[in-house]
Amino acid sequence: MSLQEKFDELRKKNAQAMEGGGKKRIETQHAQGKLTARERIELLLDPNSFVELDRFVQHRCADFEMEKFLGDGIITGYGKINGRLIYIFAQDFTVFGGSLSETYAEKVCKIMDHAARNGAPFIGLNDSGGARIQEGVQSLAGYADIFLRNTIYSGVIPQISAIMGPCAGGAVYSPAITDFILMVKNTSYMFVTGPDVIKTVTHEEVTKEALGGAMSHNERSGVAHFAAEDEKECLFLIRELLSFLPQNNMEDPPVIATKDPPDRMDESLNQIVPDIPTKPYDIRDVIKKVVDDGYFFEIQEHYAKNIVIGFARMNGRPVGITANQPAVLAGCLDINSSIKGARFVRFCDAFNIPLLTFVDVPGFLPGTGQEHGGIIKHGAKLLYAFAESTVPKVTVITRKAYGGAYDVMASKHIRGDVNYAYPTAEIAVMGPDGAVNIIFRKELVKSDNPEQTKAELVADYRTRFASPYKAAELGYIDEVIMPEETRPKVITALEMLSNKRQSNPPRKHGNIPL
Ligand code: HXC
Repeated sequence: MSLQEKFDELRKKNAQAMEGGGKKRIETQHAQGKLTARERIELLLDPNSFVELDRFVQHRCADFEMEKFLGDGIITGYGKINGRLIYIFAQDFTVFGGSLSETYAEKVCKIMDHAARNGAPFIGLNDSGGARIQEGVQSLAGYADIFLRNTIYSGVIPQISAIMGPCAGGAVYSPAITDFILMVKNTSYMFVTGPDVIKTVTHEEVTKEALGGAMSHNERSGVAHFAAEDEKECLFLIRELLSFLPQNNMEDPPVIATKDPPDRMDESLNQIVPDIPTKPYDIRDVIKKVVDDGYFFEIQEHYAKNIVIGFARMNGRPVGITANQPAVLAGCLDINSSIKGARFVRFCDAFNIPLLTFVDVPGFLPGTGQEHGGIIKHGAKLLYAFAESTVPKVTVITRKAYGGAYDVMASKHIRGDVNYAYPTAEIAVMGPDGAVNIIFRKELVKSDNPEQTKAELVADYRTRFASPYKAAELGYIDEVIMPEETRPKVITALEMLSNKRQSNPPRKHGNIPL
């Protein structure tokens, strides 16, 4: 072979690899409203930054006279997003439906190992029919190799999964272990057992979309964190998400300069928390007035809406915000919101992202559904997550902070670094109404006018206990601040804490109530 022929051979192979499963299958992919694996990588990464690895890998299956495709149904490599290194795989549905073979798994594991060794985020674009049926147990072994790496690299590098087509069977467990799952509306679905199996076993009839579509997992199960309108938006959201995250657990998150003054006061904040303690308001209005440029990147916005979580920046530095939402279930903590909050807090703590917590919580949601559903162990997750976290923690109590929920929400007692309260804060064992019913039960029974007696007792209790001043007297609240000062106060506190070093006693790992 001449030199020229050798060069031509490489060009030919490269061109062949670009075709994936062939033109026809690419057309089918497009007809379904889906991009190809290569198109997705191109859209997601900075222009011309993608470097592909293992382009010529092929499967080793000797059965079924299977055709061979260069790359074997998955594209892997590294590249840049906003100038920062990331590792990526994109499953190629045009080759055996993106199904996973032994060699395919080896490709994924190779980039996962690179990502962990070199300390850079790992992104998976999923679009696959699951285990390569012709390979059997090698495919299962390949999945397990990936699951193992997802687990041991958890908390070491950020791991992000986008679901852009099918993701079914045991294959769901790789995304499930990663930190964030994004789903595309109408074209993606995730389930352990599909509609056919469900029909056989339980006689339930359900569509793929209703069972495991983007909104099912964003609204009902809480498995997913984002629901994108289309693939483009999904890829944009990944870029946006990464802008708040450090490359790995040894780095601090990236600072993005802002023109929003750190000492900006906002008088309108003084009017947001209503005078009437039972009147709802949207905590996101407070958050947006406090953070840089009013930009709050909300996570899991469709799930457990009684707690709000997401990223924002304070004077350029990312923070992880957790906030009770008085506009939904009065901001009560329940099973789903506790789990949602706990996982987020643990993510932030693992990746050195300071925690900013807004508190307006009347307590835990009462009811047999909650008690029998295990609110004790699920609520404990949030408590545990805040308590074990060692990143800077700044807490602002806007209104109610009652009972156990007060302790849970990044209180001073579980190592809140700076705890603020508004003058509207009510910090007590329980709300005045409930408290009076219990401690003055006899007086109320004896009273000629129980309604008026109760009203007086409630008013008295409110004045004496439902304020921030008892907690401030004890040092549990560092400062009672005017709502308008929230931004400067929080930024000053975060800057003071920017070199915070705190660690927990050495141990193999804790035992969070699961
Ligand atoms: C091998 C597969 C495949 C698979 C699809 N293909 N899934 N090849 N192994 N798992 C191939 C098809 O033969 C077809 O090849 C091409 O991919 C496209 O598939 P279609 O069926 O034509 O596409 P579509 O109609 O869009 O349906 C997509 C699908 C369906 C819903 C994903 O293909 C399907 O149900 N596949 C099987 C899913 C499954 O049961 N997987 C195993 C699950 S168990 P041609 O040559 O025609 O293009 C599992 C265990 C994981 O995953 C365990 C981890 C612990």
